[in-house]
Amino acid sequence: MSAFADRHIGPDTTDTERMLGAIGYGSVDELMDAAIPEVIRWHGPLQLPAAATEPEVLAELRGFAARNRVLTSMIGLGYYGTHTPGVIKRNVMENPAWYTAYTPYQPEISQGRLEALLNFQTMVCDLTGLSTANASMLDEGTAAAEAMTIARRSSKAKSMVYAVDADTLPQTIEVIATRAEPLGITVEVFADGQLPQEFFGVHLQYPGASGALIDHSALIEAAHAQGALVTVAADLLALTLVREPGAIGADIACGSAQRFGVPMGYGGPHAGYLAVRAGLERTLPGRLVGVSKDVEGNRAYRLALQTREQHIRREKATSNICTAQVLLAVMASMYAVYHGPDGLRGIARRTHAMAARLADGLRAGGVSLAHDHFFDTVTAVVPGRAASIVAAAEELGVNLRLASEDRVGIACDETTTEAVLANVWQAFGVEPSTVEAEALILKRDSDFLTHPVFRTHHSETAMLRYLRQLSDLDYALDRGMIPLGSCTMKLNATSEMEAVTWPEFANMHPFAPAHQAAGYADLIDQLEAWLAEITGYDTVSVQPNAGSQGELAGLLAIRGYHLANGDDHRDVCLIPSSAHGTNAASAVMAGMRVVVVACDDTGNVDLVDLDAKIEQHSDSLAAIMVTYPSTHGVYETGIASLCAKVHEAGGQVYVDGANLNALVGFAKPGKFGADVSHLNLHKTFCIPHGGGGPGVGPVAVREHLAPHLSAHISAAPHGSAGILPISWSYIRMMGPTGLAAATGVAVLAANYVAARLRDHYPVLYSGNKGLVAHECILDLRPITKSTGVTVDDVAKRLIDYGFHAPTMSFPVAGTLMVEPTESEDLAELDRFVDAMIAIRREIAAVAEGQWPAGDNPLVNAPHTAAMVSGDTWDHAYPRSVGAYPAGVKRVGKYWSPVRRIDGAYGDRNLVCACPPPEAYA
Ligand SMILES: Cc1ncc(COP(=O)(O)O)c(C=O)c1O
Repeated sequence: MSAFADRHIGPDTTDTERMLGAIGYGSVDELMDAAIPEVIRWHGPLQLPAAATEPEVLAELRGFAARNRVLTSMIGLGYYGTHTPGVIKRNVMENPAWYTAYTPYQPEISQGRLEALLNFQTMVCDLTGLSTANASMLDEGTAAAEAMTIARRSSKAKSMVYAVDADTLPQTIEVIATRAEPLGITVEVFADGQLPQEFFGVHLQYPGASGALIDHSALIEAAHAQGALVTVAADLLALTLVREPGAIGADIACGSAQRFGVPMGYGGPHAGYLAVRAGLERTLPGRLVGVSKDVEGNRAYRLALQTREQHIRREKATSNICTAQVLLAVMASMYAVYHGPDGLRGIARRTHAMAARLADGLRAGGVSLAHDHFFDTVTAVVPGRAASIVAAAEELGVNLRLASEDRVGIACDETTTEAVLANVWQAFGVEPSTVEAEALILKRDSDFLTHPVFRTHHSETAMLRYLRQLSDLDYALDRGMIPLGSCTMKLNATSEMEAVTWPEFANMHPFAPAHQAAGYADLIDQLEAWLAEITGYDTVSVQPNAGSQGELAGLLAIRGYHLANGDDHRDVCLIPSSAHGTNAASAVMAGMRVVVVACDDTGNVDLVDLDAKIEQHSDSLAAIMVTYPSTHGVYETGIASLCAKVHEAGGQVYVDGANLNALVGFAKPGKFGADVSHLNLHKTFCIPHGGGGPGVGPVAVREHLAPHLSAHISAAPHGSAGILPISWSYIRMMGPTGLAAATGVAVLAANYVAARLRDHYPVLYSGNKGLVAHECILDLRPITKSTGVTVDDVAKRLIDYGFHAPTMSFPVAGTLMVEPTESEDLAELDRFVDAMIAIRREIAAVAEGQWPAGDNPLVNAPHTAAMVSGDTWDHAYPRSVGAYPAGVKRVGKYWSPVRRIDGAYGDRNLVCACPPPEAYA
């Protein structure tokens, strides 16, 4: 095995032998032979290049980078050059304390990133002039599509027409159209303010894709008079100078925060945003951070309202979004914190001044412009000359937008310099200008970012300390194991991350001419081919920028396939009761009806119920969506027959590949009967979780579905291309042997944990020979019933022991799902197991009456430093038991910054922006 694989995989040979001994197997191969049903087993090495060393891989990446030619981008269209402040680049983007954290579902240990996200929400609310913003969307296009569905749900108008202004970003129109079709919504593109006859919602771009800055207030009023809702897709930098969407009557605002310090990355990742006016907050999809309090009444943040709604509401959920863009939202919020309102205004003014000078020079040289009013983008009208001007600019190192044969778009940004302007003028054959002909109308007259957080951390010292202060509050993989079932929180190796911030990858515009992005093309082609080999499918697209988006892409491909065959009536999607909530939500978004298939007592899909459901819906069966190994962490033996039954009935099989870490090198969904899968590169293939994103959710299909893959699931052609070097590097450094070894050790680790904990907590489900796959479910329900100690108590007590809790109550309420991954060594696995056993002893002490049910270390967990060092201590157990439970070292202990948080209080008293300074007193 490669030297890298040896470092990626935690247990060494001695550890592995001890673990195998504990579960009674002689080798990992023997274990895998026993665990994986032979009917799906794939034997033989993956056809992938042999592992390369870290230096070799970095050299190969340098080769790709060298084949990317990064020119100055003035293409605009929602993607702009930006200066990422060094202090943010190094201390957020490249800092594992931020990038290896998990989604803040355990809020007590996520206060740092929750505060950063609250800052993001506050920034978006302030800039858009709307009352509630969520904590990020996947990109502008998908945020606009979500805005459309908010409008449909909230408008009283009966119409199914969505009116989209022609001056909207072209990729946004495509994403909206892709999402509208299966929902029965017709998109009508209108120009010059000429609204269609009837509609339930209107989408406007502000400023327009052409750069035009138009006062939309009258049009918005007219739309409201028809009972429609209006979304304004607005540029956040422009909003520091021009009137905010809320002030011109918008109900919803959406857009991108990319130009707030997040490199373009050939299309992503960056944070999309979505904000709504008062009254619509309960329809807002995605994650919403809110302010609540802990049991001592101290201010504490947590995710509010419908945040996990698709997990709970499934097919009734408003959206399928799960993984979002947390790391990038943190970066954008910190850009606003660092620059403050005056700094941002200054950047915007300078950007506008550049555009104004550019315009003046063009006009003076006889070039007419399409609009008089603009913020940063001008459109030159050059009949028949557009292509030659764009080509001339390229020669001079600048990419302009070829808007049509007759029009060239030119977007300025904070990186635009005098020299760049000179090149643009030269490409047009005009003389330079020094005149700044101000072209702003609709000047903003309200203040923004008034909260002290945006007015305090403007020196680098202050900023550095603020970032450190926040990340110190959080628990991430850089502190210890995060054994979250279904999430695969494995090592995100530093060398995998390195290329992400190289300028040749970071600064490429997604619509740069293809010949400038040859390095990216090669890397993406290779990665897609490797993923096809690993999964056994024919075609892979890396465009979906989260698992949920891969699901939608896959289901839309199934829909397209049935429609192409004239099977319009096939619209039923069978989904087992154990499925992840996104599955059902995605099926509805793909225009399907969800029919639930039961699971049997052993957690497997109930094949008898499956037969019944197939028979009941035989004419209308479109697909089944199953996760494999199941969300119960078991290799179900019935999978091949399940696939055959659905195929016989004319349906397609979607295998949710979120659990691929249990299959790589041992089974290929595309070969054991499935037609389509999505993968989560942010699980199996090492893209760090970023505190809740970014992610990449490639869709993989067999040949017959390939023609039906949509080109517009995400706004950018290759989605979050900027982070693909991470997964590419992982596969390249592991090689075929290393990848299979990782799977084997992941399964070994889960079985080791299950074996050691089985006598203390029942392991809910197991498959062949009593083995689990790569995760195991610990059933706390009988313990809760007999002792009153809940799964929450155990999760919070684990914090005192220095752990992030396993996945709580998914897929079975009242249980914990543990996924150790291959990256944790035996010492860390044992530390976790020992903590769980010690907690079990504490539970027994409560049951035996040694500690009262209402006052024991479990119900009071987590314990803060303030609590255990207070002047009084009137609990039924010593302070030391609260603070330093069995085995916890006094030096280097992680302290939860808050005590247990009251979530319901925050939902009743909803506050989703930074509280006023008085609240901090
Ligand atoms: C089984 C399963 N399916 C789908 C998803 C959705 O993936 P994402 O969060 O990337 O949208 C998840 C995410 O946790 C999952 O565990």
